[in-house]
Amino acid sequence: MEAWWRNSIGYIIYPAAYKDANGDGIGDLKGIIEKLDYLHELGIDLLWICPIFASPMKDNGYDVSDYLHVNPLFGSDEDLLTLLREAHLRGIRVLLDFAMNHTSDQHEWFVKAKEDPSSEERSYYIIKKGRRDEKGNLLPPNNWGSFFSTSAWERMPGSEDEFYLHVFAPSMPDTDWSNPKLRERYYQIARHYVDLGVDGFRMDAISHLAKNPTFEDSPLQGGKGGYVLDPSEFSNRPELLGYLKEFREKGVNENTLLVGEVGGCVQPAQARLFSERGRGPINLVFNFDTVWNNGAYGSIDKKDEEIKTDVISLKNNFMRWYENAATCDLPLYWCNHDHPRVLSQYGSVNYRAESAKMLVTTLLFLYGTPFIYQGDEIGMSNVTYDKVEDFLNDEANVDALKSMRSEGRDEETILRFWRRTNRINARTPMQWDKTSYAGFSKVAPKVKVNDNYKEGVNVQEQMEDPYSILNYFQYAISFRKNAIYNDIVNNGRLEIVDYNHPDVFAYLHRGSSTIMVISNFRPYQTYFTFNYEIGDIVLHNYDGVLLKDHVFTLRPFECYLLKIR
Ligand code: GLC
Ligand code: CA
Repeated sequence: MEAWWRNSIGYIIYPAAYKDANGDGIGDLKGIIEKLDYLHELGIDLLWICPIFASPMKDNGYDVSDYLHVNPLFGSDEDLLTLLREAHLRGIRVLLDFAMNHTSDQHEWFVKAKEDPSSEERSYYIIKKGRRDEKGNLLPPNNWGSFFSTSAWERMPGSEDEFYLHVFAPSMPDTDWSNPKLRERYYQIARHYVDLGVDGFRMDAISHLAKNPTFEDSPLQGGKGGYVLDPSEFSNRPELLGYLKEFREKGVNENTLLVGEVGGCVQPAQARLFSERGRGPINLVFNFDTVWNNGAYGSIDKKDEEIKTDVISLKNNFMRWYENAATCDLPLYWCNHDHPRVLSQYGSVNYRAESAKMLVTTLLFLYGTPFIYQGDEIGMSNVTYDKVEDFLNDEANVDALKSMRSEGRDEETILRFWRRTNRINARTPMQWDKTSYAGFSKVAPKVKVNDNYKEGVNVQEQMEDPYSILNYFQYAISFRKNAIYNDIVNNGRLEIVDYNHPDVFAYLHRGSSTIMVISNFRPYQTYFTFNYEIGDIVLHNYDGVLLKDHVFTLRPFECYLLKIR
């Protein structure tokens, strides 16, 4: 099998916020089609498009009500065919986002399951009888808590004593992967899209497909109302590997790229079983170990000054996966649609161009297939909304707001926390030009545009500026794709230089020749001892070079890609 993704540059599209072609304020497939030339020119040849299937959009499309049709908000089934055709004409492959851990409660399967207790569809979900307390009150079957609310169980409508399991929102019932009939339904859907020409899937939340089959109480204590979120009850369970193998065999081809979201619960050694080259059922495993290395996660009580990138931990996390992945392909990414903007996480809006260029350089020449998140190529950053209501386009935030207010948090604290951490930050409209709504739409978009599009953070102005972030990305990507560099990155040996340097992320990649990246992660000047001989400066985000007596003086967020002699 030819691992074509090892030579690909991926790009993540969040369709609702990419480009609105029909003027209703929501991005759509026609909008993506309009931008294929742009993506091609940028050097992108692999798209991961966040969910586009029919959905009531309680969780922005991750709650699917019909897998076989495109959400009318995004266009028609015909538009998807056009998108595939036009992408392929430009040498761009397409991954669809496939959420199989759960459906929407509006999916036909769940509707039938509710209506007819003897239906086959009822066996597609995890439905259990509740328990009774001493007074005879009905309680959920066990103490499992969900990611989105308190109990992971919700009363099964129409039933006297049964509950269904939902590890995410109550409107997203989990499917029962221990049922071969359910699995077969998913393989049919996968085959349908493979036959249409889809090149692969990003498999949503797959770590949760298998649950602890005993359904006994979690031994963990505490939690609201006695319910505890204990992901070990429904994450990376032993049955999962078999399910993934079967999906590969029965649902897709050998050449189909399968990218699995396994979240933060998985260890590299375990992930290796999933994605070992030639043996594992899937190809790339996304974990989130490198995403939050700045103390921002759960940082509601922290001041902005307390948020600082832990560069050593970042190096450790990349290397931990690399060392364990000699026989695996890896994805390379900073963030996705579930996280704040990387520029605000690890870079700085005060050094927008410098830090955006530094971040992409650092990422591109590590080991793996890069995935750029939409808008990073123009240095998009977190929102500066001035009221919490602006964040409520995401249902997850509605509940979170209630609970933070009930804990007595004031609006200012919530606002500061969300501007720093919320996933809305990644879901604001893509900034195409400096006309109204950043050229994303002709009407006011559902999620407010970030005002900085007026200050040069937009595609059109950056295209015209030879020193822009966008032109730097394009140039850097062209090097990453160059056959010699690609070979060094995929088949060379990666090593960190000066591991304990608290401010600088530097590494060597040794292959047919040796390249080196040196990146200052600070908004201030740092020094870096350099005991090599420069063959060439390939990429650099500043003018001039400050190197004296084997010491580089690095300006704020300065970075180099060097060829070493
Ligand atoms: C994944 C998606 C996220 C979604 C969740 C539930 O983590 O990336 O956006 O909310 O699954 O489907
Ligand atoms: Ca639209």
